[in-house]
Amino acid sequence: MSTIDSVLTETRVFQPPAELVKQANISGMAAYKALYEEAERDFEGFWGRLARETLQWSKPFTKVLDESNAPFYKWFEDGELNVSYNCLDVHLTNGNADKVAIIFESDDGKTTKVTYRELHARVCRFANGIKALGYKKGDRSIIYMPMSIEAVVAMQACARLGITHSVVFGGFSAKSLQERIVDVGASFIITADEQVRGGRTIPLKPAVEEAIAMGGCEAVKKVIVYRRTGGNVPWVEGRDLWMHDVEQGQPDTCEPVQVGAEHPLFVLYTSGSTGKPKGVQHSSGGYLLWAALTMKWTFDIKPTDVYWCTADVGWVTGHTYITYGPLAVGATQIVFEGVPTYPNAGRFWEIIQKHKATIFYTAPTAIRSLIKAAEASPDHHPKKYDLSSLRIIGSVGEPINPEAWVWYYTNVGGERCPIVDTWWQTETGGHMITPLPGVTGLKPGSCTLPLPGIFAAIVDETGADVELGKGGFLVVKRPWPAMIRTIWGDPERFKKSYYPEELGGKYYLAGDGANRDADGYFWIMGRIDDVLNVSGHRLGTMEVESALVAHPLVAEAAVVGRPDDVTGEAVVAFVVLKRARPDDAEAAEIAKELRNWVAKEIGPIAKPKEIRFGDNLPKTRSGKIMRRLLRVVAKGEAITQDVSTLENPAILEQLGKAL
Ligand code: WTA
Repeated sequence: MSTIDSVLTETRVFQPPAELVKQANISGMAAYKALYEEAERDFEGFWGRLARETLQWSKPFTKVLDESNAPFYKWFEDGELNVSYNCLDVHLTNGNADKVAIIFESDDGKTTKVTYRELHARVCRFANGIKALGYKKGDRSIIYMPMSIEAVVAMQACARLGITHSVVFGGFSAKSLQERIVDVGASFIITADEQVRGGRTIPLKPAVEEAIAMGGCEAVKKVIVYRRTGGNVPWVEGRDLWMHDVEQGQPDTCEPVQVGAEHPLFVLYTSGSTGKPKGVQHSSGGYLLWAALTMKWTFDIKPTDVYWCTADVGWVTGHTYITYGPLAVGATQIVFEGVPTYPNAGRFWEIIQKHKATIFYTAPTAIRSLIKAAEASPDHHPKKYDLSSLRIIGSVGEPINPEAWVWYYTNVGGERCPIVDTWWQTETGGHMITPLPGVTGLKPGSCTLPLPGIFAAIVDETGADVELGKGGFLVVKRPWPAMIRTIWGDPERFKKSYYPEELGGKYYLAGDGANRDADGYFWIMGRIDDVLNVSGHRLGTMEVESALVAHPLVAEAAVVGRPDDVTGEAVVAFVVLKRARPDDAEAAEIAKELRNWVAKEIGPIAKPKEIRFGDNLPKTRSGKIMRRLLRVVAKGEAITQDVSTLENPAILEQLGKAL
């Protein structure tokens, strides 16, 4: 929580432009307050009204919230609906049928557009094909695909049949993939031959093959492969099918399978404080309600908008703000296959200009890297592009530092676009604390105020409210429809992680530290647990440690985060080998080997930026590794803390010498 002083002294407030306020879906502070107060006054009435107005139910619900088995809350439980119907079929009759749903921009700059009518037909054909293979409601699928129209089709087709999908980010290794296949009990996998990013092809199907070969995946009977590149990939006759063959000859319509509102739409794995990633289980009704509502509120989505979220469908942002939210509200959106720096650092700005994007949503890490790139190559500075179509820009995934905020606001938003700095998590399903473009005065670095219906607060370790300005734990005091339902297969861990007894078991504990200023604005200070945020991706330090100690050379490892200009945090690993501490030349070799090892065990995003070798790690007399001290050492700062409880204080000096 070290950045606290610098952000709390930031005093500038940027008011939303009057024209934007006038037309906004939530227009002005009074309108926001009225909604917030409605939720306070009549909590269930508020959510019930919105759920009826926003979604189409095949069977209306009679009860809004069931708290009888808290914290396993149930929303709209006796209601039935189909998520894919609400994202696609509804647009066939409301005037959106021939509206472009997705503008796909490939890595090499080709554009493909699909209308709602075409997307509906594709999803139906693919769903019919999956059904013909014998898959049905209650089954689980793994989706391991690149950014593509096909990934959206795959997710929507599963939703149409009541099949619970679990998307695995294409950057995860075969090992991570295998763990997720096993944990979720998938009976089929949808993947691609290869993905294309930054002018390079990266194999996906071979990783699936490797994952299955690791064992435990016997339930997987079919692997469906989207042919992206036509590259040569391993093939198992009888088990593997091309996606286009599965769709081939299938009818353009497919009866949506109606499911209960609580039916699990998806399970998405995310890092927690212990080694094993958690399968965050989301609902159908409550989740979709929030995906659609936050599109209207946070992004102020309008029929004429061209919306672009740069996230990958492998993360929650890609679920809620690509596959589900934008389609639920009938938006036109850009889906981008590539990376921000290919063929040059102007790629994002060029895409905005080319498709006249009006809403742009990205991560601080991308902004920070593009600031550097724009300084290095002025030709690709956002000022060189026509970004005048933009009206709202957003940020997600990690705190945005005020410097990056101001650059984004000035150079991308042209000082006229509000920045919606959206705080939320895989577990929350959608935005929780965020400015509203037609409401909120902005302070750089603050995610400002909670959305209507979200009772966010800051408490101390006993669960008591803290005074404004006194940081503490960020909690949400009342349930909300899009919240995590449980951890797949581990309800006890769900309770312990998010509704800990120490806080009275009643509040959702987000795992972030936060502060509120005199205006009640929230400032997120970063994780309070052993979770790092590297380039906006969550990474458990224990996960990286387990990967390191699995290497035959490694005896012990401790992993901490260190602030990084571009990636927010960087992974620093302290390693004790089973043999003597290596000399400098050897250390470089072994560090390289270990970094590649971690990439194989988890994925390239988890590679330590730096590895330091020691004879030992700093430990208390009871053998506990002092990560707190290692964080100081990793930053290259002098230790000012009391180290008298350490078994081996001298080790700090050894580890302090950078590689
Ligand atoms: C962090 C991503 C500050 C936070 C949607 C949270 C943020 C974690 C913000 C969730 C923000 C996300 N300001 N911090 N606007 N948005 N975070 O599950 O630490 O990948 O707990 O969800 O990212 O990451 P996750």
